[in-house]
Amino acid sequence: MGLKTIEELCGELEDKRKSAQAGGGSEAVSKQKSKGKGTARDRINKLLDPGSFVEIDEFVTHRCNNFDLESKKFLGDGVVTGWGTIDGRKVFIYSQDFTVLGGSLGEKHADKICKVLDMAMQMGCPVIGINDSGGARIQEAVDSLNGYGKIFKRNTLASGVIPQISIIMGPTAGGAVYSPALTDYIFMVDKTSVMHITGPEVVRAVTGEAISSEELGGAEVHNTISGNAHFIAKDEDECFTQVKKVLSYLPLNNLDDAPELPTSDNPARADLKLREIVPVDVNKGYDVHEVLNKVLDNGEFTEVQAGFAKNIVTGYGRINGRSVGIVANNPDVMAGCLDINASDKASRFVRHCDAFNLPIVTFVDVPGYLPGIDQEHNGIIRKGAKLLYAYSEASVPLITVVMRKAYGGAYLAMASKSLGADVVLAWPQAEIAVMGAEGAASVVFKKEIEASSDPTATRLEKIDEYREAFANPYRAAERGYVDRVIMPEETRLTLAQALAGMESKRETRPAKKHGVIPH
Ligand code: HXC
Repeated sequence: MGLKTIEELCGELEDKRKSAQAGGGSEAVSKQKSKGKGTARDRINKLLDPGSFVEIDEFVTHRCNNFDLESKKFLGDGVVTGWGTIDGRKVFIYSQDFTVLGGSLGEKHADKICKVLDMAMQMGCPVIGINDSGGARIQEAVDSLNGYGKIFKRNTLASGVIPQISIIMGPTAGGAVYSPALTDYIFMVDKTSVMHITGPEVVRAVTGEAISSEELGGAEVHNTISGNAHFIAKDEDECFTQVKKVLSYLPLNNLDDAPELPTSDNPARADLKLREIVPVDVNKGYDVHEVLNKVLDNGEFTEVQAGFAKNIVTGYGRINGRSVGIVANNPDVMAGCLDINASDKASRFVRHCDAFNLPIVTFVDVPGYLPGIDQEHNGIIRKGAKLLYAYSEASVPLITVVMRKAYGGAYLAMASKSLGADVVLAWPQAEIAVMGAEGAASVVFKKEIEASSDPTATRLEKIDEYREAFANPYRAAERGYVDRVIMPEETRLTLAQALAGMESKRETRPAKKHGVIPH
């Protein structure tokens, strides 16, 4: 045979590359596309800047001989890995290939993912995982479980160091859902993404409940009921647009500053509509998104978990070009009160912003914590404590705008001065008190009201008295719990000034391994 020529050797390499590119073959690719799903490489190419993807480990194969698996070797082992750029910024990526053994995760498949996670950590860049997999590769048994364990460990170590994004674009079953759950965000595509620990068959066998896969763990369910997911898209293209948008607000890693985006929107733009959006009458609701639209650059707000715990709103925006995290009570839903889900949602978002150096702007209009047996028995105490903990622990600039109600423990929890807010602003209609005037008057003046010849008139009189004395921002401003009382239309400018003023904030904390956060 003799030595091969360089042309023959390059030809062999070319053939191998083609074989790797072919994934599980044309039939499997057609099946994938018929479900409205892209292939692993299509997805990477759509998400990254054109031509920026650099692949590694293209020729990795498994080394399992169980159950005839040795006759089913595919170059790349069912996951495409490497790095590239999004809007010119470097990211690391892996994309599972369902056309190869159902995207199932075996030893070498897991090693490829771990390599990318390690590189992302070392280079200080976000990592994006596109998940489309039948879960642990059954033939590889404990080796595949070990693979998952190694990924979970890395996800945990990377948490708060680099942004980690999980995109679910197919099934994610069993313990495989835990890697996405350990990352910052889960993006799902309506009708094609599914996440559950045990599928419908197991649920039916164990509990007798009949349910479809979509109803058990589809995108809608996780974006509205369970709160496991953070974004829902109608198709894969929309999902990629969402991912790019979110990354545009974030730094590449925890040591980096969030990117600034110069804006033509005047920071001094004063919108008098803000005087109307929030009614002075505390019993009237309104949609806090309208406030955010008036205050943020170009009215642009990117909401996180828009469908879950709608009584609190979380997301990203920019003020005078600076990325900020927003937390806002929404009086349109459950009067904007705090409950278990709202506390979970907000505290996680606060910790995410704090980890990635995003100042947090908190808009407050909160009547208190939601009363109820269900809430008490399901742990509103520990959940409420988690929100207190998250804000108290945060060392990024905290700017708070008290728009209207700020009562009791919920006032404290919503980034109050006492928890460490750097700048607290209040609107003229703000009521910072232990409770609303009606409740307070009924308690404080109970005896007078009962003894009165006209209890109704006396009660109303006392309510007015209490309102006049305490239902305003000035008592708190006298003590310095509020730094400035501003007109609603001055909010945008004052926030821009506050963010500029607090930009250089540095706060040192007592040395410790880590705290023990209420859960
Ligand atoms: C090996 C798998 C596989 C797996 C799918 N395949 N899942 N091979 N291990 N886990 C293979 C199929 O045999 C098939 O191979 C090909 O992938 C495509 O699968 P289909 O069933 O034809 O596709 P579809 O009808 O779309 O169904 C997709 C599916 C289903 C819902 C994911 O394949 C399924 O239920 N798979 C098993 C899921 C599961 O139980 N996984 C283990 C979960 S436990 P051929 O050669 O026929 O094309 C787990 C524990 C992790 O993951 C714990 C970590 C801590």
